[in-house]
Amino acid sequence: MSASPPTPGEAGTLDELWPTPSTSIDISARLAGDDRTPPDGRPWVTMVMISSLDGAIAIDGVSGGLGGPADHARFVAARRQMDAIVVGARTATAENYRPAAVPIAVITGSLSLDPTARLFSDPARQPLLYTTTQAAQDRGDQFDGIAEVIPLGDSLEPLAVLVDLRRRGLLTVALEGGPTLNGQFLGADLVDEALLSVSPLAVGGTGSRLASGPALGPDHRFCLDRVLRGGDLLFVRYLRDRA
Ligand SMILES: NC(=O)c1ccc[n+]([C@@H]2O[C@H](COP(=O)([O-])OP(=O)(O)OC[C@H]3O[C@@H](n4cnc5c(N)ncnc54)[C@H](OP(=O)(O)O)[C@@H]3O)[C@@H](O)[C@H]2O)c1
Repeated sequence: MSASPPTPGEAGTLDELWPTPSTSIDISARLAGDDRTPPDGRPWVTMVMISSLDGAIAIDGVSGGLGGPADHARFVAARRQMDAIVVGARTATAENYRPAAVPIAVITGSLSLDPTARLFSDPARQPLLYTTTQAAQDRGDQFDGIAEVIPLGDSLEPLAVLVDLRRRGLLTVALEGGPTLNGQFLGADLVDEALLSVSPLAVGGTGSRLASGPALGPDHRFCLDRVLRGGDLLFVRYLRDRA
């Protein structure tokens, strides 16, 4: 008896709709084949986000309710391709981040993270905490032995974070939000790729968009590279068009 064909989104398989229509592709293998050549002096940046059909990025303050097995498979596969994860302090807290296979860099001006949080639970996989020099002086000692605190002066510039990550030999990073951090990276034109999931849910409300920050010029375009489907979710890959 032959096995029934996998349901889209199960066991890491998705259907590719464009540019090469095919069914039951392995999402990890597909992402592994993508070119991510880092620009000079900094890692390649891939923004990884999910939104509802009507543009919401969270339900009751977290993103988990928007996805499903297919989005989880895509999220895990995207992380596997990256050398590091960059995330804003509010997302790391709201989503109760845990140590990952690759370094997690948290951007936090205030350095007011909870040192008992799950993120700090593995001394062998300590997060990098990028913060201001003042906050590092005031609160840095709370993280002795559980995180590396990296002061970057009076203000935190996304490029300075990326330059430090590159200096550590990290060539690709997943920018996992939230909207405040995304807005700053987009504003500085530091997003090279966007992996976006569109959920079939309409959520309503007045919640944030994928990015919240300075208005961008009319030429801040990305070009469509790929469209996948897993169940009723769509997965699109866009690449920054700087031509
Ligand atoms: N749908 C999705 O895919 C997705 C993905 C990620 C997050 N989310 C949702 O997004 C929400 C959180 O997003 P958010 O926009 O409120 O917050 P966020 O971007 O995750 O974090 C904002 C925080 O990051 C720090 N920060 C960012 N840029 C900084 C800078 N230049 N200088 C100093 N500090 C800086 C600040 O931390 P301090 O306050 O410590 O100074 C700031 O409060 C959550 O509900 C989460 O579930 C959804």
